[in-house]
Amino acid sequence: MSDSPTLHPDRNLAMELVRATEAAAIRAYPFIGKGDKLAADGAAVDAMRAFLGTVNFEGLVVIGEGEKDDAPMLFNGELVGNGQGPKVDIAVDPIDGTSLTAAGRHHAISVIAVSDRGSMLDASAVYKMNKFVVGPVGKDVCDIRKPIGENIRAYAKAAGKGVDEVLVAVLDRDYNAELIEDIRAAGAATRLVRDGDVATGIQAARQESRIDMSVGIGGSPEGLSLPAASRP
Ligand code: FBP
Repeated sequence: MSDSPTLHPDRNLAMELVRATEAAAIRAYPFIGKGDKLAADGAAVDAMRAFLGTVNFEGLVVIGEGEKDDAPMLFNGELVGNGQGPKVDIAVDPIDGTSLTAAGRHHAISVIAVSDRGSMLDASAVYKMNKFVVGPVGKDVCDIRKPIGENIRAYAKAAGKGVDEVLVAVLDRDYNAELIEDIRAAGAATRLVRDGDVATGIQAARQESRIDMSVGIGGSPEGLSLPAASRP
């Protein structure tokens, strides 16, 4: 057994990782609205990887992005950082919303999630994940295993608002079509988004946002970043 204490991710590391997402966003900036999502993603990936190489940590990429569509990526199993300091797991998404970026639309973001080494779910074998994000009002009230109508009614009651005032964000995909129908059948409204369920998840987690819930199937890398991004 080693005498050295286990190093956990700390506030300094968190700030450095924020700067890595900034580096990715800045490098992707010239590609906004230029119609080339792979070029935008490639620039963001290169910038994030280079910046992470300067940070005191050893990050194991538990889940990266790009495998599903051959995009540029930080690879699953890749070690990033300068190798000193805490050993951690990371999930990375240099741009969540590459198509949004290429089209010049809003709500693309750059994300890194970090946790103690060995503690992050390895979902690299699956491309899709069912997600459910709700703000503090929905804690111990909503449950991803329950039908969406039941969750909407329970949430509305806890929030002290009518079911018809509840706004639910969902990725606009065929695979979510039945869910979208069920949300509307329950009497709630939908905010259908083209891309970017990390951004809608963060909005749902924030009390002051108009979006009450962000639900439905989406990418699994985003599903790993989301719990960290939306944690109060
Ligand atoms: P990318 O920017 O990495 O392409 O992801 C955008 C996104 O909309 C995610 O927010 C979402 O989780 C995922 O794609 C859904 O994937 P797909 O469109 O392949 O079903």
